[in-house]
Amino acid sequence: MGLIILLTLMKQRRSFIKDLLQSTDVDRDVNAKGWVRTKRGNKQIAFVALNDGSTINNIQVVIDIASFNEDQIKNITTGASISVNGTLIKSMGQGQSVEIQAKEIEVYGTADPETYPLQKKSHTLEFLREIAHLRFRTNTFGAIFRIRHAMSFAIHKFFNDNNFYYLHTPIVTGSDAEGAGEMFRVTTLDAENPPKTDDGKIDYSEDFFGKETNLTVSGQLEAELGATALSNVYTFGPTFRSENSNTPRHLAEFWMIEPEMAFYDIHDNMDLAEKILKYVVKYALDNCIDDLSFLEKRLLEDEKSKPQNERSEMPLIEKLQFILENDFVRLSYTEAIDVLKNSKPAKKGKFQFPVEWGIDLQSEHERYLVEKHYKKPVILIDYPKDIKAFYMKQNEDNKTVRAMDVLFPGIGEIIGGSQREEDYDKLKNRISEMGIPEKDMWWYLETRKFGTVPHSGFGLGFERLILFITGMSNIRDVIPFPRTPKNAEF
Ligand code: 4AD
Ligand code: MG
Repeated sequence: MGLIILLTLMKQRRSFIKDLLQSTDVDRDVNAKGWVRTKRGNKQIAFVALNDGSTINNIQVVIDIASFNEDQIKNITTGASISVNGTLIKSMGQGQSVEIQAKEIEVYGTADPETYPLQKKSHTLEFLREIAHLRFRTNTFGAIFRIRHAMSFAIHKFFNDNNFYYLHTPIVTGSDAEGAGEMFRVTTLDAENPPKTDDGKIDYSEDFFGKETNLTVSGQLEAELGATALSNVYTFGPTFRSENSNTPRHLAEFWMIEPEMAFYDIHDNMDLAEKILKYVVKYALDNCIDDLSFLEKRLLEDEKSKPQNERSEMPLIEKLQFILENDFVRLSYTEAIDVLKNSKPAKKGKFQFPVEWGIDLQSEHERYLVEKHYKKPVILIDYPKDIKAFYMKQNEDNKTVRAMDVLFPGIGEIIGGSQREEDYDKLKNRISEMGIPEKDMWWYLETRKFGTVPHSGFGLGFERLILFITGMSNIRDVIPFPRTPKNAEF
């Protein structure tokens, strides 16, 4: 018993590298654990760069080779996982203030240099996507996923500090909130031999839930139910869309933040959207500067290989500061169409999709408005009702609805939302006009029957936000394991 206690006392508690690097308390025993990034040196001394994911920075471990056995040193290669006991000392070398003078090293797992895919040289993002199980170990993906974490935390903090309740809405639903028919079916029926009704259709009454169900495309409808009692709620969860868009901005499984607010009109909605976007950008600048600086440098390197006209106008951190310092431009869809019609690309026939009132704006149009014309984030409202979902509040003109899209540089649509139709009859009419089965919507309609209120909300695409913050250009690189058409590896 006494021996066990003694051994436990001798066992140095593990410190995170982030804390060690910030420490001014030197000449003490420490333990660090992590993965070897590089090893260099000569016959007498080895320098190991060790990383444990707590920061983008590595700690240098100095190994006096004569005091270790040869095999052990041989096993300390790029990718190996080790535990180091040693003394934290002030570093003589450049680039770090402290380092560890190793006393004991345990190698947990070796990484054969012949087969370990992440040797020192840099890799393309495409290649790293194919080894998504290992890409966390690169500087780039370490930075991205630390930032992703910080952004989710910031979002919860923002809402918590502003009287919002986090509402968990279901993942399995029976409705198509957006009415776009891009749903993944959830079923336990035998795919090869499903039960049939008398008229030969698949009999979903025999399915697990006794009806047709799918993975949710949005938590909004359920969030609205919560907002009509709790006032301010938000959801933050996975969302699924089977749209077959193989673009750098679309995923089949993505995360969405959907606040829903009672007593908010479209202007309050726009104010909130602008406020939360600025809040999370500021949070990133205040809390993730090491990772952002790394990504900024990486981007600048990357840009050198691009033609001049494809380079971005601002370095990453300046671009984030720019968002904080500028008001978003707000205008109506109709005004935006006028701007686009009078634009150079429209006049020269350069847009792939011609501009006409009534069209769904394409990415090229959104990006023209944001990047070329206004050079600021833009919020567009009052879209034609025919291109928007059934739940949006109808305007007096009978042509448009109180929709709102927030457009960001390099991204296009980052937020989509609206004021909701709170009038029972108008909503019921729109539902039948659009051919949505009313029997599936009775619960949604009832909130307009009992104590209805003006209310609004929006959906912020989490990965599009992370794209913007990190400056990455493909959405597959900001979610750990992307789900896209023909791809569900890992
Ligand atoms: O504009 P959307 O479709 O709006 C809704 O789903 C509403 N129910 C939101 C609401 O009012 N509560 O989607 C909202 C946002 C988009 O602006 C975009 O940022 C993101 O979700 N998004 C996607 N992100 C990645 N991959 C996809 N396939 C996406 N589809 C939408
Ligand atoms: Mg949208």
